[in-house]
Amino acid sequence: HRPGAFANRLRIPPLLSPDLDASGTRRFELTLRTGSTELIPGLRASTWGINGDHLGPTLRMRRGDRVAMAVTNRIGEPTTLHWHGMRLPARMDGGPHQTVAPEATWRPEWTIDQPAATGWYHPHPHEQTARHVYRGLAGMIQIVDPEADAAGLPSDYGVDDIPLILQDKRLDSDGQLVEDFDGTFGLIGDTILVNGTFDPFVEVPAGRIRFRVLNASNARIYFLEFADGREFHVIGTDGGLLPGPAAVRRAVLSPGERLEIVASFAAGEQVVLRSVGERTDAATDIEEGDFDLLKIIAAGPRRDVSPLPARLSSAALPEAPPGARVRRMTLTGSEINGKDMDMTRIDEVVAAGAREIWEIHNTTYTHNFHIHEVAFRVLEINGAPPPAYLRGPKDTVYVPKQATVRLAVEFGRHADPAAPYMYHCHILRHEDKGMMGQFVIVAPGT
Ligand code: C2O
Ligand code: CU
Repeated sequence: HRPGAFANRLRIPPLLSPDLDASGTRRFELTLRTGSTELIPGLRASTWGINGDHLGPTLRMRRGDRVAMAVTNRIGEPTTLHWHGMRLPARMDGGPHQTVAPEATWRPEWTIDQPAATGWYHPHPHEQTARHVYRGLAGMIQIVDPEADAAGLPSDYGVDDIPLILQDKRLDSDGQLVEDFDGTFGLIGDTILVNGTFDPFVEVPAGRIRFRVLNASNARIYFLEFADGREFHVIGTDGGLLPGPAAVRRAVLSPGERLEIVASFAAGEQVVLRSVGERTDAATDIEEGDFDLLKIIAAGPRRDVSPLPARLSSAALPEAPPGARVRRMTLTGSEINGKDMDMTRIDEVVAAGAREIWEIHNTTYTHNFHIHEVAFRVLEINGAPPPAYLRGPKDTVYVPKQATVRLAVEFGRHADPAAPYMYHCHILRHEDKGMMGQFVIVAPGT
């Protein structure tokens, strides 16, 4: 299946509008089901999807909203649905403890209490996450708030504010998904799909376009750039907008991470967004490759957009006060601090609202690190400050081989000593093999 013609119009996941009930709660219905999709045009593959055959709708939520989910499982085996990047009580989190049995409906409910950001949702069943996500269970969440609205950023969904869900697949000659997760990094695909579209193009108005890029791959790391080397701006990381736009020509995205970027296109321009692997010793040891991701065609008339504001967000970034508790997480081949995931063991106990330093020491090959529920800021990568574009609020960080990453982590206030949250490598094969630990949030002083 050779890409290169950019022959397929980029699919835009539908926006799911919630029902507003009498109590003011916004109700979203999500049904996980089996289906079939032409991942390669002309060839049908068995896939899984949410409210459809493959992938899921985009959920837009407003800060302050009360949201209620009805998650119905029709895939024929137990799974879960995790709200990656959401700050919520552990029992609503959709981690491996919140199993949804076949044909059952799970009904978590919470209040959106975090700044505008791009999150996502995906299954998190114990030891089965890679397969469930790979078959197509993933979708985007977009949180909006008044400050972000006032920033004048492109925000017309699917027009100048475009979701890009990046996933690599391996497809056989019939176009079916190959499921062989046994390599060191699990499955490394040779076919890149964007929003489930093979070899895509997108038509946009001329002017400033925002892309919300989500790496929903098993293991692949993307080194994003435009083929003509043009400058673009990163405006947001996992947990929200950056304090101000960061100009880059290249940005790295490991599994689970999100980047919001803004690029400008002149009328009539055509530019390819691509991933070009690193060629240095600092490179990942995942087979990187070079891939075209998407051809952008600036076809429509120029939109009248205000210039990119110098200040995007006034939200305080996560800080660790002097004397903050430091926790070390040592990553080896498939363990954290020498331990495999154990659903019955609590590895770390954290006080509600705590601000801590977490030091991630990678002693081996490429990993990354995700902490549920929190917002963190990357303080240092190998002793040096991170590039400006990574200085926003985050929940997942790339940890190159042999690297040490220092994080200032802010925990939420939903204390529940009986319900754990997870931290783990987001290379899904590693997570499934046990590279995950559990923490609980308890009331301070307990
Ligand atoms: Cu995106 Cu614990 O997950
Ligand atoms: Cu890993």
